Amino acid sequence: MGTPLFISNDLPLELEQIIGQCVAILGIRGSGKSNTAGVLFEELLKHNYPLSIVDIDGEYFGLKEKFEILVAGSGDGVEIEVDVDSAEEIARVSMEKNVPVVLDLSGFLSGERTEFLKEYLTALWNLAGKLRRPYIIGIEEAHEFIPQGVRTELKELIARVALRGRKRGLGAIIVSQRSAKVEKDVLSQAGMLFLHRVVHEADMRVYGELLPWKKTEVKEMVNALETGDCIYVNGESILPIRVRERETFHAGFTPSLEVVVTPQLKQVSQSIIEAIERAREGKGKTSRVPVPQEELERLQAVLREKESQIAELDEIARALGYIKVQVPERAAAEPPVFFPAIQRLSAGSGETAHVAACPSMAVSACEEPVALAEDERTAEEEDEDPLDLLPRAVRRHVDRLVSRVAKQGLLDRRIVSFLASRSPNSYSVGQIAAWTGCARGVIEENSPRDLVGAGLIVRERRSDGVRYRCSLAAFVQREFSVYQPDLTARELHAVTRSLREQFSAIK
Ligand SMILES: Nc1ncnc2c1ncn2[C@@H]1O[C@H](COP(=O)(O)OP(=O)(O)OP(=O)(O)O)[C@@H](O)[C@H]1O
Ligand SMILES: [Mg+2]
Repeated sequence: MGTPLFISNDLPLELEQIIGQCVAILGIRGSGKSNTAGVLFEELLKHNYPLSIVDIDGEYFGLKEKFEILVAGSGDGVEIEVDVDSAEEIARVSMEKNVPVVLDLSGFLSGERTEFLKEYLTALWNLAGKLRRPYIIGIEEAHEFIPQGVRTELKELIARVALRGRKRGLGAIIVSQRSAKVEKDVLSQAGMLFLHRVVHEADMRVYGELLPWKKTEVKEMVNALETGDCIYVNGESILPIRVRERETFHAGFTPSLEVVVTPQLKQVSQSIIEAIERAREGKGKTSRVPVPQEELERLQAVLREKESQIAELDEIARALGYIKVQVPERAAAEPPVFFPAIQRLSAGSGETAHVAACPSMAVSACEEPVALAEDERTAEEEDEDPLDLLPRAVRRHVDRLVSRVAKQGLLDRRIVSFLASRSPNSYSVGQIAAWTGCARGVIEENSPRDLVGAGLIVRERRSDGVRYRCSLAAFVQREFSVYQPDLTARELHAVTRSLREQFSAIK
């Protein structure tokens, strides 16, 4: 007789059944997936089962209400700020010292998130090979990390854990609202499934493949599922169950008018945090190698140069704080005349413009259809906050991006603000310097690498020199692709518009 887990009144489940297992929790938005995942995590934590949860929406910190669990990552409320360099260390402490971890990646841009997870999963895989003890990793929004039909390094790593982790004791709990978008191989190999309600035909087809019933029976059964209900599948055993409600605070609950009290949270003992800090410092020390004298002198010269640039930037920052630059209103808001649609928009006109009016020299401007579509807005749409209409997860994603950009250095903030307000037009370094009041040399020396890396700003080398532009529509398409196909063009447009406004306003 194994150790019973209380997931549902209808389901006898034992801890031993979870070891090395790939568990998939699927269903549409609001069907109860995160609650089910939370319940599983609660039961595992009650039995000190070591685990990590990849939380890109900040939904799982509530587990701290009952359990000592480390929240590491980048976002509001993390206990320890991490970057890609500390991924391996956190994985090691979690697995070796049995410290449960919530990886709150809500403050990372998608590129950073990917790099962090690659390091983290590689470390877990290698450690599990040596230690061979049970460990499980939970991954929300799994369609983003293991997309069907796309090969990425991160996907290979996750699929490896899900499909071949059993011998090492490694298991995975993958959660997704888009069954049809998750790698089929992983789903078909999942030993345990919690199938919540779906409505899309494509998702229903996936359920049809996972359940041994006729298509019409699957549809009938799935349509009858209510929030919290699901079909539990484990080999031969298939039964409809109602999952119990989470005992700990569910930060992803559907908002209601009732007052929500944020719970008292358990802190991870200081000694664990100190152990991680020490490990990181130690890693820094051991990775340091003796630097030859010549190289040392070169680096010192670079340092001196950087210091003088910092002083120059300081000067700019101070000047920006004290001096109010008087720019004629129209000139400041006025984009180049070759793009009349945007020009009329910034003047607040409701007139329509046609793409055909965009002459060939404005190549970069023509590449961004969403920006052009803005011109089709009505006067009422101008007044309403576009974000009000969007799903909560999308709004939070927008907030995270804005707060992420707002944390960039002063120079990057000024550049992004300038370029976003004039997106999609491109500007030379000289033009950016003139408009933002930053020294040209400083911009040349400190190109906005992070923003370029994130794909928000595009650096183009042209025959007349380097130019930058804000590639907002393409950035939004990429960053928000995880919500597809549920986001309409209009909603994506609202996201683009909101980001444009908020990035432009960043000081
Ligand atoms: N078994 C359950 N019993 C009672 N309430 C539940 C149950 N499952 C979910 N709920 C409630 O339903 C709402 C939606 O649940 P949950 O956040 O788990 O959905 P989800 O499928 O993860 O949604 P999303 O895709 O938006 O993340 C929440 O307010 C949650 O508390
Ligand atoms: Mg959820």
